[in-house]
Amino acid sequence: MCGIVGYVGNQGNCVRVLIDGLKRLEYRGYDSAGIAYFNDGKVNLVKESGKLENLSNVIDVEKKSNLGIGHTRWATHGKADKCNAHPHKIGKFTIVHNGIIENYNVLKNKLIEKGYNFSSETDTEVICALLDYLYKTDKDILKCIRKLNEILDGSYALGIMCDDNPDELYAVKKNSPLIIGINDGENYIASDVPAILDKTKKHIVLEDKDYAKITKDTVNVYHDGKEKRVDVKSFEFDASSIDKQGYDHFMLKEIHEQPDVFKKTTNPYLSEDLDGLIEKMPDFSKYSKIRIIACGSATHAGLIGKQMIERYANVETLVDTASEFRYNKQFLNDDELVIVVSQSGETADTLEALKIAKKNGNDTLGIINEKGSSIAREAKIVLYTEAGKEIAVATTKAYSAQVAMLSLIALNISYSKNLVNKKEIAEILKDAKSLPTHMEELLQNEEVYKEIANQIKEYNDVFFIGRSLDYALAMEGSLKLKEISYTHSEAYAAGELKHGTISLIEEGTPVVAIVTDDNVASKTISNIKEVKSRGANVIYITNRNDEEDQTFYDSKIMVPKVNDLFSPLLTVIPLQMIAYELAKLKGCNIDKPKNLAKSVTVE
Ligand code: G6P
Repeated sequence: MCGIVGYVGNQGNCVRVLIDGLKRLEYRGYDSAGIAYFNDGKVNLVKESGKLENLSNVIDVEKKSNLGIGHTRWATHGKADKCNAHPHKIGKFTIVHNGIIENYNVLKNKLIEKGYNFSSETDTEVICALLDYLYKTDKDILKCIRKLNEILDGSYALGIMCDDNPDELYAVKKNSPLIIGINDGENYIASDVPAILDKTKKHIVLEDKDYAKITKDTVNVYHDGKEKRVDVKSFEFDASSIDKQGYDHFMLKEIHEQPDVFKKTTNPYLSEDLDGLIEKMPDFSKYSKIRIIACGSATHAGLIGKQMIERYANVETLVDTASEFRYNKQFLNDDELVIVVSQSGETADTLEALKIAKKNGNDTLGIINEKGSSIAREAKIVLYTEAGKEIAVATTKAYSAQVAMLSLIALNISYSKNLVNKKEIAEILKDAKSLPTHMEELLQNEEVYKEIANQIKEYNDVFFIGRSLDYALAMEGSLKLKEISYTHSEAYAAGELKHGTISLIEEGTPVVAIVTDDNVASKTISNIKEVKSRGANVIYITNRNDEEDQTFYDSKIMVPKVNDLFSPLLTVIPLQMIAYELAKLKGCNIDKPKNLAKSVTVE
């Protein structure tokens, strides 16, 4: 989603710094870009629709400047054209904005009455006009920004330049992340760490409604009219994660990182026995009910978590999509644990759902990948997944790290309630140990995935079916395919097929059928036979050796048989790889699919 970078320094290289920073934010997803910078005391504004390349082509990076702001925009208010691209400037104020201003229409009408004209459809231009209007009556910019906090409804991270102060950069945020990067003789603002990572590791995280004045040598942060003491932190960040390291795409690299991510995420808790699970994690066995709330693939991870927790820990577990949960009537029990799952830790709907649960008095647990993110800071308890930075918009390694963490939680409860016996524990630990090797084996089957992708590339619709655990996996497989290959697909609970989707099955229709869950395997196989007899091309993904009957599928991908707790982490690999190979065959922009954003910071 939108990205912000801002710079103030003394080397005259502001334009280059901004373009470099925006390049590093490209992975978030965007459809136009722009920068504004002071040159000889005057603001220069350059923006273009489409890729950053279009902007770089019309910019002279050698132009001398010591202060500026840049933005990659993911369209919300108004189409993705040059006019709506940021920065926006009205009167003396130039602004880049991430987020959505909910009361912008009311404000816009009032400002039109005061004589302001608007040339874009954006809510951001309204902020420029509002700030300019406030500044006309009080020349204290900080006071004006403080007033903005009172007037604006919605979410915003803002980088602000004022014509009158070419040496000062301003920033403010609410419900959208913004950090200040600190260096000798130069300082930065950024919506996301990678934008400034090659420049500095020292940074300040702004809290909601904090606002700041930043010069090349000073950073002053304020809250409600008072200067605030702030902690300067240091990023722990592995720069290799923002390098493709020889892979064609970040997505492929990240799929291949899964064995390592599994080890890093589970090793601290799984050693010779399961004691680490109760020593290094809080005891989750006291809750009568668990509710998992998330968006996108994180919800699909939650659906696997539900199966694990219910099976192993015997605790009822509900899964809600955050964007629905926040506006539904809520029935949260007092002794219910609310788990929010998020790679970025910034997803607006998930953050809001978490706030609702907190307000209700529930214990909250965040399963988060990005350290120190908004959700990580807000949740009562945090368990970090160790997926490292994920760059491809479509999540792979972060999803599997979420699944692994939810399995550990199921095991934590199960172990502390004495629901697993010694033999089972030994098997679980053995499977955990062998899992990375099994993952590697599946990653070797590149030719098989290519062949399947070839088979399905001529078709407009692909179906994914499964029951129970396999249905949750089908949803993730279908989402991956849609996201990156732009092929329509549907995930269906295999038992529901005959209540609808089966009418769409024709000669050759690709159906990816997943059967790894013994509890329901024979039932799903019956459903597969129903589609097969109607002409479907069945791609069968299984861990079963059902050699006696080979009539119900056309191709078979074997995944090694391991404990249910870890089995989805194997099954998902063929699903990710088929989507990847299909997207590659179709020549899609795999790492940055159109219209999608990595971190969805608006609702
Ligand atoms: C976006 C991403 C998805 C991700 C979802 C939730 O839609 O493209 O890959 O699953 O957001 O993101 P989160 O950061 O909360 O896990």
